[in-house]
Amino acid sequence: MALNALLLALLTVLLAVTYGPVSHYLTVIGAWRHPSRRVLATDSDLVKIEDTIICEDLHLYHPTNTLFSACEDDFHRRFGWFPPLGNFENPPQSTEGGGSIHIIDPETKVSARLEFENFSGPLVTHGIDVVAADPSRPDHSVYIFAVNHLPNPDLFRSRQDTTTPKARSQIELFYHVLGSKSVRHVRSIWHPLIRTPNDIYAENATSFYVTNDHFYRDGLLRHIEDVLPLARWSTAIHVQIEHETVSAQSCDQAPDVKAGIALTDIFNNNGLGHGQTHDECLVTSAAGGLLYLGQALNGQITIREVIPLDSVVDNPSYFSDPFVSLSDGSSDASGYIVPGLPRAVDLPLHKRDPSAQDGALVWHVKPSSGALTNASISSGTGWEARILFEDDGSIIRTASAAVLVPIDPKREGGRKRGWLFVTGFLSENIIAVKVDL
Ligand SMILES: *[C@@H]1O[C@H](CO)[C@@H](O)[C@H](O)[C@H]1NC(C)=O
Ligand SMILES: *[C@@H]1O[C@H](CO)[C@@H](O)[C@H](O)[C@H]1NC(C)=O
Ligand SMILES: *[C@@H]1O[C@H](CO)[C@@H](O)[C@H](O)[C@H]1NC(C)=O
Repeated sequence: MALNALLLALLTVLLAVTYGPVSHYLTVIGAWRHPSRRVLATDSDLVKIEDTIICEDLHLYHPTNTLFSACEDDFHRRFGWFPPLGNFENPPQSTEGGGSIHIIDPETKVSARLEFENFSGPLVTHGIDVVAADPSRPDHSVYIFAVNHLPNPDLFRSRQDTTTPKARSQIELFYHVLGSKSVRHVRSIWHPLIRTPNDIYAENATSFYVTNDHFYRDGLLRHIEDVLPLARWSTAIHVQIEHETVSAQSCDQAPDVKAGIALTDIFNNNGLGHGQTHDECLVTSAAGGLLYLGQALNGQITIREVIPLDSVVDNPSYFSDPFVSLSDGSSDASGYIVPGLPRAVDLPLHKRDPSAQDGALVWHVKPSSGALTNASISSGTGWEARILFEDDGSIIRTASAAVLVPIDPKREGGRKRGWLFVTGFLSENIIAVKVDL
């Protein structure tokens, strides 16, 4: 721990003398930011959703207006085992349960755990994605892809030595009939290119993209990857499976799993999200504070534009505003919703401390008014980012996913508002907070 901090300090100095845009980097990690809180609203404008403990990711499935999340369900477990944070002390045994898929009704703000069929865990949760099982019947059933950070089975065997990677993360595929109370495990998916999976962008039931947020799982080079923007070693992988069903929870790579590199040369490639069009793929560089707008096509993600933000950022989503008044296009609140950390600089010291306080913030990125020409958009300056929500950690600890659900202005006396659902990789509850748009 002390070594990490020292290393961080040294590298920051190194960076300051060798790397140009260093002040943006220090802004992004929040070196100068004071924890602050914008509490907007009255008590009724904030809901802490019960039984949503450490749910890193959150998706709105539009056809049925249902939120999906994968939750750790135990606050302390994450501090003992979570490979993405370098927490490796207490690997779960293969016989251990834990972790679940939740659905949340954005109207009632009630969360329900789906009962597993043919799955006994452990599920060490991280990014997810949800797609219609049959695109012609989107309100019938879905597939849910979920990262599962399992320990390397060799950890528990005599074969273990210092070079044995401690984690052997894989993707679980689940099937859920909408409206039912259960989720059926279809299969596990693993490939050697899936090393440090973080988030998932699914095209359909047999094709998805997954980010590897680091190249190194631990050690010195891992720390360098954390702090040096020139260390652009993370990747996104495209994975295709031929069959939806092979033997469940098999430990080895199934012969039908094909994977290839879809995106390289990004610093700390992290969140993935669906954008404005069917193939717009949003990618974030977490520690780089960058939102990339890209296109996912034929197994490749092509970046078209990059939007810099002033914090570490995580899983992005797109909000399509259904309440745009035609007479006044300026009331269109459509845009990208990007969660982040006000002070990621504290994370190396806080990541194993259940009682530490970390803040949360959420950006709303829209085309800037009066700057809609093609020229300004392609230069990346045609966007404006404002903070929709900010907390010093008193309401929520960290923000790693955020989704905006519109409210009909008629129900708000003509005011344009929305429910913003925010969750974090160290949060005790998902929250819903009413925000002005
Ligand atoms: C559960 O798995 C068993 C054995 O793999 C299989 O026979 C059974 O059909 C599966 N049940 C469901 C509901 O998928
Ligand atoms: C899924 O998407 C991939 C890539 O676009 C495509 O090749 C494949 O045919 C699709 N599969 C289904 C079942 O739609
Ligand atoms: C922007 O570009 C598109 C195609 O790239 C073109 O159809 C459109 O006319 C352009 N708009 C402006 C305002 O130049």
